[in-house]
Amino acid sequence: PDTFTIAIDGPAASGKGTLARRLAVHYGFHHLDTGLTYRAVAKALLDRGLPLDDEAIAAEMAQNLDLQHLDRAALVAHHVGEAASKVAVMPAVRRALVAAQRAFAQTPPGTILDGRDIGTVVCPDAPVKLYVMASAEARARRRHAEISASGGEAGFAEILADLNRRDARDMGRTDSPLKPADDAHLLDTTEMDIEAAFLAAKRLVDEAL
Ligand code: C5P
Repeated sequence: PDTFTIAIDGPAASGKGTLARRLAVHYGFHHLDTGLTYRAVAKALLDRGLPLDDEAIAAEMAQNLDLQHLDRAALVAHHVGEAASKVAVMPAVRRALVAAQRAFAQTPPGTILDGRDIGTVVCPDAPVKLYVMASAEARARRRHAEISASGGEAGFAEILADLNRRDARDMGRTDSPLKPADDAHLLDTTEMDIEAAFLAAKRLVDEAL
């Protein structure tokens, strides 16, 4: 193939998104945050007052999704992420979004996709797979700092409980549960800052390029 793909997976607030963006800038690769695709479907349902658990309706939203026009600012809200993880358990929704994600992954010269099932399902043949993780406490601390920095208010305990609930839903579902691919490199960022995580990932990518 004439496209080089980097697959990045990990739980919520693991730092995979930040890492993916840094790598995309460094290598000049196209980046897709696949979480935004699930969030966009969830938000479309919420905005229309439609149920989050009707598979046929949600799948139709997923089929009509335009990957070129995902507006991160409109999708970051916490309740949208929560709704996205409910929408993401339905196989027909996943089928539609995975098809669009696979098409994106072909864009030359290279692509970086981050999500929950990139190395296992979306791009199982990617030459580099990273599984980014950090302790639940470290992830809750980062999310808490992020929310405080943007002027928001949320208790640490509440954030930690939310993260644990979302991880449990993502790891426990039948279709494409969150788990490292057998050939993924594990990157534990509990004790790492962004720069250290970037350098560790860059070393793995440079070896495979
Ligand atoms: O990463 P983010 O928090 O934006 O993802 C929102 C939700 O979308 C996740 O909790 C997960 O349920 C779902 N998701 C998924 N597969 C992906 C990306 C996200 O199931 N590849």
